[in-house]
Amino acid sequence: MFIVFEGIDGSGLTTQSKILGKYLEKRGKKVFLTKEPTENLIGKIIRKILKGQRKLNQETLALLFAADRSMHMDIIKERLKDSFVICDRYYFSNYAYQMLDVDIEYLIQINSRFLKPDLTIFLNVPPEVCKKRIDENREHIEIFETLETLERIKKNYLEIMERFRREGFNIAEIDGNRSIEETHEAVVKYLEKYIK
Ligand code: ADP
Ligand code: TYD
Repeated sequence: MFIVFEGIDGSGLTTQSKILGKYLEKRGKKVFLTKEPTENLIGKIIRKILKGQRKLNQETLALLFAADRSMHMDIIKERLKDSFVICDRYYFSNYAYQMLDVDIEYLIQINSRFLKPDLTIFLNVPPEVCKKRIDENREHIEIFETLETLERIKKNYLEIMERFRREGFNIAEIDGNRSIEETHEAVVKYLEKYIK
Protein backbone atom coordinates (compact mmCIF):
# COMPACT_ATOMS: atom_id res chain seq x y z
CA MET A 1 0.00 0.00 0.00
CA PHE A 2 1.31 3.40 -1.03
CA ILE A 3 0.56 6.09 1.57
CA VAL A 4 1.52 9.73 1.06
CA PHE A 5 1.62 12.58 3.59
CA GLU A 6 1.07 16.10 2.31
CA GLY A 7 0.81 19.56 3.84
CA ILE A 8 2.62 22.86 4.16
CA ASP A 9 6.06 23.09 5.77
CA GLY A 10 5.88 22.55 9.52
CA SER A 11 2.54 20.74 9.42
CA GLY A 12 4.15 17.61 10.88
CA LEU A 13 4.66 15.44 7.79
CA THR A 14 8.03 14.02 8.84
CA THR A 15 6.88 13.49 12.41
CA GLN A 16 3.66 11.72 11.44
CA SER A 17 5.30 9.61 8.70
CA LYS A 18 7.82 8.25 11.19
CA ILE A 19 5.27 7.53 13.92
CA LEU A 20 2.97 5.80 11.47
CA GLY A 21 5.91 3.71 10.24
CA LYS A 22 6.68 2.58 13.78
CA TYR A 23 3.01 1.87 14.44
CA LEU A 24 2.72 -0.37 11.38
CA GLU A 25 5.98 -2.18 12.15
CA LYS A 26 4.74 -2.94 15.65
CA ARG A 27 1.77 -4.61 14.01
CA GLY A 28 4.06 -6.85 12.01
CA LYS A 29 3.94 -4.96 8.73
CA LYS A 30 6.98 -4.41 6.61
CA VAL A 31 7.43 -0.66 6.11
CA PHE A 32 9.52 1.46 3.76
CA LEU A 33 9.66 5.07 4.91
CA THR A 34 10.78 7.58 2.32
CA LYS A 35 10.56 11.25 1.39
CA GLU A 36 10.74 13.81 -1.38
CA PRO A 37 12.90 15.55 -2.29
CA THR A 38 15.07 12.43 -1.98
CA GLU A 39 18.63 12.06 -0.77
CA ASN A 40 19.69 11.03 -4.28
CA LEU A 41 21.59 13.03 -6.87
CA ILE A 42 18.79 15.32 -7.98
CA GLY A 43 17.34 15.66 -4.48
CA LYS A 44 20.69 17.04 -3.30
CA ILE A 45 20.67 19.71 -6.00
CA ILE A 46 17.09 20.64 -5.03
CA ARG A 47 18.06 21.07 -1.36
CA LYS A 48 20.77 23.56 -2.31
CA ILE A 49 18.20 25.57 -4.24
CA LEU A 50 15.73 25.44 -1.34
CA LYS A 51 18.35 26.84 1.02
CA GLY A 52 18.79 29.74 -1.39
CA GLN A 53 22.38 28.68 -2.18
CA ARG A 54 21.59 28.38 -5.89
CA LYS A 55 19.08 30.36 -7.93
CA LEU A 56 16.99 28.76 -10.66
CA ASN A 57 13.86 29.63 -12.57
CA GLN A 58 10.73 28.05 -11.11
CA GLU A 59 9.86 25.96 -14.16
CA THR A 60 13.29 24.33 -14.06
CA LEU A 61 12.83 23.70 -10.35
CA ALA A 62 9.46 22.05 -11.05
CA LEU A 63 11.14 19.76 -13.57
CA LEU A 64 13.90 18.92 -11.11
CA PHE A 65 11.32 17.82 -8.53
CA ALA A 66 9.70 15.65 -11.20
CA ALA A 67 13.07 14.21 -12.26
CA ASP A 68 13.85 13.39 -8.64
CA ARG A 69 10.45 11.69 -8.40
CA SER A 70 11.15 9.72 -11.55
CA MET A 71 14.26 8.22 -9.92
CA HIS A 72 12.31 7.66 -6.72
CA MET A 73 9.53 5.88 -8.60
CA ASP A 74 11.71 2.86 -9.38
CA ILE A 75 12.57 2.43 -5.70
CA ILE A 76 8.96 2.86 -4.58
CA LYS A 77 7.65 0.32 -7.09
CA GLU A 78 10.23 -2.24 -5.97
CA ARG A 79 9.41 -1.74 -2.29
CA LEU A 80 5.67 -1.91 -2.87
CA LYS A 81 6.08 -5.56 -3.82
CA ASP A 82 6.37 -6.50 -0.15
CA SER A 83 6.03 -3.37 1.99
CA PHE A 84 3.84 -0.52 3.03
CA VAL A 85 5.47 2.54 1.49
CA ILE A 86 5.04 5.78 3.45
CA CYS A 87 6.16 8.81 1.47
CA ASP A 88 6.69 12.22 3.12
CA ARG A 89 5.56 14.45 0.18
CA TYR A 90 4.83 13.38 -3.38
CA TYR A 91 3.44 15.01 -6.50
CA PHE A 92 0.77 17.02 -4.67
CA SER A 93 3.71 19.03 -3.26
CA ASN A 94 4.83 19.66 -6.84
CA TYR A 95 1.36 21.02 -7.58
CA ALA A 96 0.73 23.10 -4.45
CA TYR A 97 4.22 24.64 -4.29
CA GLN A 98 5.17 25.05 -7.94
CA MET A 99 1.76 26.39 -8.98
CA LEU A 100 2.83 29.57 -7.22
CA ASP A 101 4.79 30.25 -10.43
CA VAL A 102 4.08 27.52 -12.99
CA ASP A 103 0.89 26.57 -14.83
CA ILE A 104 -0.88 23.75 -12.97
CA GLU A 105 -1.83 21.89 -16.15
CA TYR A 106 1.85 21.67 -17.09
CA LEU A 107 2.69 20.39 -13.60
CA ILE A 108 0.02 17.71 -13.87
CA GLN A 109 1.40 16.75 -17.26
CA ILE A 110 5.00 16.28 -16.03
CA ASN A 111 3.74 14.06 -13.20
CA SER A 112 1.24 12.10 -15.24
CA ARG A 113 3.29 8.92 -15.57
CA PHE A 114 3.91 8.45 -11.86
CA LEU A 115 2.15 5.92 -9.67
CA LYS A 116 -1.13 7.00 -8.09
CA PRO A 117 -0.99 6.78 -4.28
CA ASP A 118 -3.51 4.46 -2.63
CA LEU A 119 -4.06 7.04 0.05
CA THR A 120 -2.98 10.65 0.56
CA ILE A 121 -3.20 12.20 4.01
CA PHE A 122 -3.31 15.98 4.02
CA LEU A 123 -2.39 17.40 7.43
CA ASN A 124 -4.38 20.56 7.89
CA VAL A 125 -2.58 23.08 10.11
CA PRO A 126 -2.95 26.89 10.05
CA PRO A 127 0.06 28.61 8.41
CA GLU A 128 0.70 30.75 11.54
CA VAL A 129 1.05 27.60 13.64
CA CYS A 130 3.39 26.04 11.06
CA LYS A 131 5.50 29.17 10.88
CA LYS A 132 5.82 29.18 14.66
CA ARG A 133 6.90 25.52 14.67
CA ILE A 134 9.47 26.18 11.94
CA ASP A 135 10.90 29.27 13.65
CA GLU A 136 11.24 27.42 16.94
CA ASN A 137 12.97 24.40 15.47
CA ARG A 138 15.08 25.38 12.48
CA GLU A 139 18.40 27.04 11.98
CA HIS A 140 17.75 27.82 8.31
CA ILE A 141 14.53 29.12 6.85
CA GLU A 142 13.96 27.78 3.33
CA ILE A 143 12.59 29.67 0.34
CA PHE A 144 8.93 28.69 0.81
CA GLU A 145 8.86 29.21 4.56
CA THR A 146 7.49 32.74 4.91
CA LEU A 147 4.01 33.17 6.35
CA GLU A 148 2.62 34.77 3.21
CA THR A 149 3.93 31.97 0.98
CA LEU A 150 2.68 29.25 3.32
CA GLU A 151 -0.79 30.83 3.20
CA ARG A 152 -0.77 30.74 -0.59
CA ILE A 153 0.50 27.15 -0.68
CA LYS A 154 -2.22 26.04 1.73
CA LYS A 155 -4.84 27.61 -0.51
CA ASN A 156 -3.32 25.75 -3.46
CA TYR A 157 -3.46 22.46 -1.57
CA LEU A 158 -7.15 22.89 -0.76
CA GLU A 159 -7.91 23.63 -4.39
CA ILE A 160 -5.85 20.67 -5.67
CA MET A 161 -7.28 18.23 -3.12
CA GLU A 162 -10.80 19.11 -4.15
CA ARG A 163 -9.99 18.64 -7.83
CA PHE A 164 -8.27 15.28 -7.35
CA ARG A 165 -10.94 13.96 -5.01
CA ARG A 166 -13.43 14.58 -7.78
CA GLU A 167 -11.15 12.56 -10.04
CA GLY A 168 -11.34 9.58 -7.69
CA PHE A 169 -8.22 10.03 -5.58
CA ASN A 170 -8.41 8.80 -2.02
CA ILE A 171 -7.50 11.90 0.00
CA ALA A 172 -8.05 12.32 3.72
CA GLU A 173 -7.86 15.72 5.36
CA ILE A 174 -6.76 15.40 8.97
CA ASP A 175 -6.61 18.17 11.55
CA GLY A 176 -2.95 18.42 12.51
CA ASN A 177 -3.40 21.43 14.76
CA ARG A 178 -3.27 19.39 17.94
CA SER A 179 -0.71 17.28 19.74
CA ILE A 180 1.53 14.84 17.84
CA GLU A 181 -0.19 11.92 19.59
CA GLU A 182 -3.74 13.12 18.90
CA THR A 183 -2.91 13.68 15.25
CA HIS A 184 -1.35 10.21 15.02
CA GLU A 185 -4.48 8.66 16.55
CA ALA A 186 -6.64 10.39 13.94
CA VAL A 187 -4.37 9.08 11.17
CA VAL A 188 -4.56 5.54 12.53
CA LYS A 189 -8.32 5.77 12.90
CA TYR A 190 -8.62 6.74 9.28
CA LEU A 191 -6.23 4.02 8.14
CA GLU A 192 -7.82 1.24 10.20
CA LYS A 193 -10.15 0.12 7.48
CA TYR A 194 -7.24 -0.28 5.04
CA ILE A 195 -4.70 -2.10 7.20
CA LYS A 196 -6.67 -4.91 8.80
P1 ADP B 1 7.21 18.95 8.24
O1 ADP B 1 7.91 17.66 7.86
O2 ADP B 1 5.77 18.96 7.84
O3 ADP B 1 7.94 20.18 7.83
P2 ADP B 1 7.97 18.25 10.96
O4 ADP B 1 7.38 16.93 11.25
O5 ADP B 1 9.42 18.32 10.63
O6 ADP B 1 7.12 18.99 9.82
O7 ADP B 1 7.64 19.20 12.17
C1 ADP B 1 8.13 20.53 12.24
C2 ADP B 1 8.43 20.86 13.71
O8 ADP B 1 7.21 20.92 14.44
C3 ADP B 1 9.29 19.79 14.40
O9 ADP B 1 10.18 20.40 15.27
C4 ADP B 1 8.28 18.95 15.15
O10 ADP B 1 8.82 18.37 16.31
C5 ADP B 1 7.19 19.94 15.48
N1 ADP B 1 5.86 19.33 15.49
C6 ADP B 1 5.39 18.36 14.66
N2 ADP B 1 4.11 18.05 14.95
C7 ADP B 1 3.75 18.86 15.98
C8 ADP B 1 2.54 19.00 16.73
N3 ADP B 1 1.44 18.29 16.48
N4 ADP B 1 2.53 19.92 17.70
C9 ADP B 1 3.65 20.67 17.97
N5 ADP B 1 4.82 20.58 17.32
C10 ADP B 1 4.87 19.67 16.32
P1 TYD C 1 11.10 18.94 3.03
O1 TYD C 1 12.49 18.43 2.92
O2 TYD C 1 9.99 18.02 3.31
O3 TYD C 1 11.17 20.08 4.05
P2 TYD C 1 10.39 20.18 5.38
O4 TYD C 1 10.90 19.09 6.27
O5 TYD C 1 10.74 21.56 5.76
O6 TYD C 1 8.92 20.04 5.03
O7 TYD C 1 10.65 19.67 1.70
C1 TYD C 1 11.41 20.56 1.10
C2 TYD C 1 10.58 21.63 0.46
O8 TYD C 1 10.34 21.29 -0.90
C3 TYD C 1 9.26 21.93 1.08
O9 TYD C 1 9.17 23.33 1.24
C4 TYD C 1 8.27 21.50 0.01
C5 TYD C 1 9.03 21.64 -1.26
N1 TYD C 1 8.61 20.77 -2.39
C6 TYD C 1 8.22 21.37 -3.57
O10 TYD C 1 8.20 22.60 -3.70
N2 TYD C 1 7.87 20.58 -4.64
C7 TYD C 1 7.89 19.22 -4.56
O11 TYD C 1 7.57 18.52 -5.56
C8 TYD C 1 8.31 18.61 -3.33
C9 TYD C 1 8.37 17.12 -3.22
C10 TYD C 1 8.67 19.43 -2.26
